[in-house]
Amino acid sequence: MRDPIVVLPLADWFGATADAASVAAVEAGQVLYFPRLAFALEAPEAALLRPQLLAEGSRNISLDVKGQLKGASGDQAVQATVAGLVGRFATQARALVRGLFPAYDANLRPAPTSLRPTDVSTRKQSVRADDRRLHVDAFPTRPNYGERILRVFTNINPEGQPRVWRVGEPFEDLAGRYLPRIKPYSPWQAKALNALGVTKSLRSEYDHLMLQLHDTMKMDDGYQAEAPQQRVEFAAGSTWVCFSDHTLHAAMGGQYMMEQTFHLPVSAQYDPAASPLGILTRLVGRPLQGAPLPAARG
Ligand code: SIN
Ligand code: FE
Repeated sequence: MRDPIVVLPLADWFGATADAASVAAVEAGQVLYFPRLAFALEAPEAALLRPQLLAEGSRNISLDVKGQLKGASGDQAVQATVAGLVGRFATQARALVRGLFPAYDANLRPAPTSLRPTDVSTRKQSVRADDRRLHVDAFPTRPNYGERILRVFTNINPEGQPRVWRVGEPFEDLAGRYLPRIKPYSPWQAKALNALGVTKSLRSEYDHLMLQLHDTMKMDDGYQAEAPQQRVEFAAGSTWVCFSDHTLHAAMGGQYMMEQTFHLPVSAQYDPAASPLGILTRLVGRPLQGAPLPAARG
């Protein structure tokens, strides 16, 4: 199996650069791992890192681009400290991505920034929602038509506990394995799901295939156990970056992580053909219904 991670020595959030090989690696689904790139906590912030910081009924703490904090329990002072912490990570994650991939910058659309205080090994979930199973990120209600999901993760565990992932085979191998077996796209079903409000907009063939891959691989116990994969430990005080719609990943252990998602149009990639949309289009052998063509960059 190819090495699922590329280790880079960067130690400064605002001083990032990447060579063409690292950019090509992340666009090919490998994880860029920065073992020396720690996110520094101030003492009042570190004191708040307890599971009880998460408000009851919330999965994560999040800060949106307007600065609104959700999911944190505690008084106003606590809320302000948490918002400061998560906001600082949002700024640093943006600077990191800008330095690594300058050509993306004008086209990046940041999602809310999250702080995840729960222990991922103990969360109870349905098989489809269980991120301890190998998967690529794909969402049932929000079609994205091939738009990329670029994520920056940082492990802020105060006890030195690593974030443990399994990272799977290249996306093309997964798609080649399952495409002949999964249910074909039905434009009528997509229309019905949209009319019923199940999806927020019309599900394209791309979204259908990604969701089928996501669900089929998660439900395939044989695949989960036997497919090519590697266990990776992201140390406390480290950072990593991947396209989570491309990298096969499973979160097996760890607690206290921050995460920033950026959405990116396929056309803004260095190599649009390397995207899941490009790969699926090539494997299917025709343009996917309802999805934009993975245009070459001019
Ligand atoms: C995921 O994106 O599947 C979860 C990643 C993590 O919690 O480490
Ligand atoms: Fe995921």
